[in-house]
Amino acid sequence: MINILAIESSCDETSAAIIQDGKVLSNLIATQKVHEKYGGVVPELASRAHIQNIIPVVDVAFKEAGIDKKDIHAVAFTQAPGLIGSLLVGACFAKSFAQALNKPLIAVHHLQAHVLSHFIDAQPPFPFLCLTVSGGHTQIVLCKDHLDMTVLGETMDDAAGEAFDKVAKMLGLPYPGGPLVDKNAALGNPDKFKFPMSEMKDFEYSFSGIKTSVLYFLQAQKKLNPHFIEENLFDICASVQHTIVKTLLLKLEKAAKAYKIKHIGIAGGVSANSALRKALIESGEKNNWQVYIPKFEYCTDNAAMIGITAYYKYLKGQFCDLTTTPSARAIWA
Ligand code: KG4
Ligand code: ZN
Repeated sequence: MINILAIESSCDETSAAIIQDGKVLSNLIATQKVHEKYGGVVPELASRAHIQNIIPVVDVAFKEAGIDKKDIHAVAFTQAPGLIGSLLVGACFAKSFAQALNKPLIAVHHLQAHVLSHFIDAQPPFPFLCLTVSGGHTQIVLCKDHLDMTVLGETMDDAAGEAFDKVAKMLGLPYPGGPLVDKNAALGNPDKFKFPMSEMKDFEYSFSGIKTSVLYFLQAQKKLNPHFIEENLFDICASVQHTIVKTLLLKLEKAAKAYKIKHIGIAGGVSANSALRKALIESGEKNNWQVYIPKFEYCTDNAAMIGITAYYKYLKGQFCDLTTTPSARAIWA
């Protein structure tokens, strides 16, 4: 039996999980409310909140899992990418904990972990194609094995989650706006307003264009009617969401066809989006795919996905030592 303590602290969630033989015994997530009033994550405040949260979160993770600290076989942490101060808190904690208990350390790549969140409750066969859509990244990943992944294409500028959050901000919605756009969109008409879809080569994305077009559109409409946003909030959200989701699916379908893959998943914070989840199911029916949609608790940042990745690394003996340092940007681990 292999028990792993996993820590995730790359952005503004402090999370700890205990994984036993690839199964989640506990997965605690402390979200940081402090950023809300600033309309985005303030890195220094995130680091401070991680310092306050990490010990209680780990403590509860052990209690909920019902296992003792001495029964851990390895300690895993998110090494990259992320906010450097936030990563440092998790890494320093994990290193100290591992050293105190004389257990091995496992460094995990955050984006690899988002993809492997699909392997917590299921076992998609390889090759498996995953669209990872988070606040910081948008990429189509080809998985040949648990730890053998290639990024086929990614965004050249803003991530899909960033586009959701920035549009939400223009509409006066609080941070993080993605879930609120989703909520308002449910009551609107997705065909009411037309926004341009980016035209990028191969499997690349771009989301800065839609953000700018929404900005200009809102500025023009507000000149004609100062109450335009309040009166059309549902339809604006539905139309923007529709454009983002359509763009995401277009390249995913293209990649699936090019690589002849039938097992397709979505991961990352934006995979919680109801329109994206629905669109993937529809695409699956149309293209005869087996689709994989993560549980909500495994969409946004969580330590369970770090733990499952660490479990596969443990099986392959991929450990790191105390000289391993976190990195704000990093290629696949
Ligand atoms: O994966 P994640 O928790 O953090 C990063 O690694 O970036 O993703 C956070 C992103 C935010 O941009 C948030 O607005 C977006 O995921 N998000 C959503 C929804 N839930 C979270 N975007 C659209 N619809 C949602 N339901
Ligand atoms: Zn993430």
